[in-house]
Amino acid sequence: MKLIIINGPNLNLLGRREPEVYGAQTFEDYFSSLQFKFRDVQLEYFQSNIEGELISRLQEVGYSYDGIILNAGAYTHTSIGIGDAVKAIETPVVEVHISNVAAREPFRHSSYISAGAKGVIFGFGLKGYDLAIRSFL
Ligand code: DQA
Repeated sequence: MKLIIINGPNLNLLGRREPEVYGAQTFEDYFSSLQFKFRDVQLEYFQSNIEGELISRLQEVGYSYDGIILNAGAYTHTSIGIGDAVKAIETPVVEVHISNVAAREPFRHSSYISAGAKGVIFGFGLKGYDLAIRSFL
C-alpha cells in the first residue's frame, strides 16, 4: 500500500502557525509518528507553497499510488486547477483539513476539491491524517 500526504501552503509552519487553531506539533514530528504507527504502509510526505507544484505532484503520483491524502490549505477554496487535477487522476484522494472549516469564516466553507474527492475529513486536528490513512486500509 503506497500512500502520499500532500500539504499545501503554510502547512510547513504547523507548530508555529496559529497554534490555537492548528495545534503545537510540527508536521514532521506528527509524520514520524504516522510512519511508526503504519509501518506496513509506504507513506510519503510532500509539501509546497506553490500551486503548480501541488498540481504537478498530483499528476506524478496520480496513476500509480494507492491513495492521496490532500490538505491543499487555502488553495482548497480558490484553486480550480487543483480541483481539476484531483478529478483528472485515477488515484483516489481524501481531502483533509485540520480545523473545522465549517465553523470558520464563510470563505472556508467552499472547496474546489471535495467534488472530486473520495471523502472529506475535517475538524479532528492532525488526527484527520490518521483517519484518512485508515480509510485506505
Ligand atoms: C486548512 C484550512 C484552510 O482554510 C486554511 O487555509 C489552511 C489550513 C486546515 O487544515 O484546517 O491553510 O486547510
